Amino acid sequence: MSDQDAASGQGGKAGFRRMAGRAAALAAGIFAAGQTMAGTLAAAAPLQVASPDGLISVRVDAKGGVARYSIAYRGQAVILPSRLGLRFAQAAPLDEALAIRGSRRASADKTWQQPWGERRLMREHYNQLCVDVVSLRRAQSRFSVCFRVFNDGVGFRYQVPEQGVRRALRITDELTQFTLDPASTAWWIPAHGWNRYEYLYRKTPLRAAAAMHTPVTLKTPGGVYVSLHEAALVDYAGMSLEQGRPGHLKAALAPWSDGILVRKTAPFHSPWRTIQIAPRAIGLINSGLILNLNAPNALGDVSWVKPGKYVGIWWGMHIRTMTWSSGPKHGATTENAMRYMDFAARHGFDGVLVEGWNTGWDGDWFHNGAQFSFTRPYPDFDLKAVTDYGRKKGVRLIGHQETSGDIYNYESQMEDAFALYEKMGVRQVKTGYVADGGDIVRRDSAGIRRHEWHDGQFMVRHHVRVLKAAARHHISIDTHEPVKDTGLRRTYPNWLSREGARGQEYNAWGVPPNPPEHTAILPFTRMLAGPMDFTPGIFDLDFGHGLDAPTRVQTTLAKQLALYVVLYSPVQMAADLPKNYEARPRAFRFIEDVPADWEQSIALDGEIGEYVVIARQQRGGADWYLGALTNAESRSLAVPLSFLDPGRRYQAQIYADGAGADWKTNPYALAISRQTVTAGDTLVLRLAPGGGAAIRFQALAER
Ligand code: NOJ
Repeated sequence: MSDQDAASGQGGKAGFRRMAGRAAALAAGIFAAGQTMAGTLAAAAPLQVASPDGLISVRVDAKGGVARYSIAYRGQAVILPSRLGLRFAQAAPLDEALAIRGSRRASADKTWQQPWGERRLMREHYNQLCVDVVSLRRAQSRFSVCFRVFNDGVGFRYQVPEQGVRRALRITDELTQFTLDPASTAWWIPAHGWNRYEYLYRKTPLRAAAAMHTPVTLKTPGGVYVSLHEAALVDYAGMSLEQGRPGHLKAALAPWSDGILVRKTAPFHSPWRTIQIAPRAIGLINSGLILNLNAPNALGDVSWVKPGKYVGIWWGMHIRTMTWSSGPKHGATTENAMRYMDFAARHGFDGVLVEGWNTGWDGDWFHNGAQFSFTRPYPDFDLKAVTDYGRKKGVRLIGHQETSGDIYNYESQMEDAFALYEKMGVRQVKTGYVADGGDIVRRDSAGIRRHEWHDGQFMVRHHVRVLKAAARHHISIDTHEPVKDTGLRRTYPNWLSREGARGQEYNAWGVPPNPPEHTAILPFTRMLAGPMDFTPGIFDLDFGHGLDAPTRVQTTLAKQLALYVVLYSPVQMAADLPKNYEARPRAFRFIEDVPADWEQSIALDGEIGEYVVIARQQRGGADWYLGALTNAESRSLAVPLSFLDPGRRYQAQIYADGAGADWKTNPYALAISRQTVTAGDTLVLRLAPGGGAAIRFQALAER
């Protein structure tokens, strides 16, 4: 029996035949109960829907009583027949003895605008097929599954009506499968772990992968690139993927502390399960599928949501020259904050993040979330004086709320905390949830402490509560230790950014730190979910420990600059200490110039874990920026500049690895040059081992 034969999970071909016989008998019973013969017969043939360009096609059937879908790209199977279905506590399961009772089709082709983003205009163009599935045992047990097929992939979601008279539904299993060729290559991080999403990516044959977080990115043996994820994760549990038989990935929903996966009131729909498909790896980056499957802006006028760049009292704590806690090395002092504001104003930054300003950091703050006050500053931090000072300088304080995962403590102060910040002119808040996976603290209605997952339904709900409360005070959020991004920034544009992967901080204390390939993997994996607050721009790469130190930044200086273009975030930090920027003003110029909001973005070239080249055009301006980076291998890349406006000349200001640059031995060698270019030119970029290049194309007068 081949893997493909086993796709049903029913024990292969013999199993299929057994199911077919049973389903036919059950169908006969249903006819007697009054179903129309025509409806059932019509649905026996598979239903199909294709993308607008015809290259992606989806088939749905319920042969043998098991609902399945499959996806092909250019006629080549990408998702082999894969199961659909749900099981509930107390309501009848929707797992077998199923039939298709009807279907509906729709199409859309519209363009919408992002208030901020990696591209302003988004084209939403799809064909939709909704399939109604009923239980042959109990006609009142049913769901629909709707497929939206775009040119860049497929999304599908369940729509679940009342099951008979039952409205309160508790999901105990989602049967959704994604069956791929087990010989596909997978780039993945483990799910269900204590370190949330903060793992190094592994590259293995799919058959060797364990439980995985999404997005998981794959390359099929036929050379097609696929990313599995979800969109619009609202009031549901986050989905990771577990492997049964090789290649058979199954949805695993993060459970509540009582074991129930999801609590819903029918009618409801699930998040979209997404399959991005592209012939080249960069096609995944250029895809708009995840955002397109989210609901439009629910906040109305969001002109108060501002992308921008910031500095902060932050890296000093990570390299241990400052502390969050009170004492002689306390970073968050009034005086320090004002110095950072001076620096920010001098160099054109919008914000200054100050961590450790509020009481609660003394002692084991990782485990003492209940100690945090979100309104009471330490005595050496004068919140009003700092924000008044910032106002005079045209710089805003960026607030910080580390919860250590104690949601009860945080939510009981959240309203007051946002009100205080609003009064002080704060427009952005960085939140944090440093608790081990599965250790988020909730109090139930009896006041008993319960422990939840960062990606369970409780936290999914919590984050939306935070966004809504923040929005009432015109505050935007940047979440660390978040639930993964699923494109909710479309619906809640005040959810600016998040962490949700290993960021720069691992280069301060990680064992190991992020290896050179890490940032060549992120654009094709984590970044497909949405913006990341990676916090680039470390200029002192070993912070006095020596280039041989096991924990240091494993890039060249030029690669730190490239990260501003490669790793999209509408809030970009210049993460290093001001003195390190003052020591290298020529390199710092790129960080001063680069914007954080874009008219358009194009991934031009790249292979997962090897290299990537991305160009972005400034929003509200004519300039373009380009970031290119490589893993530990040096390489030369020829980059045609055909993305530039053909009617213009540009001055290319190039920040490249200098002669002999190497992340290990010579990371600071930087060659800054200028040349005039047009769209007809090709630039050859030479990237050092662990290196990169950053370019500003400054528009000159029109030709
Ligand atoms: C972890 C966050 O990722 C980091 O940015 C922050 O400094 C600490 N938690 C403290 O909140």
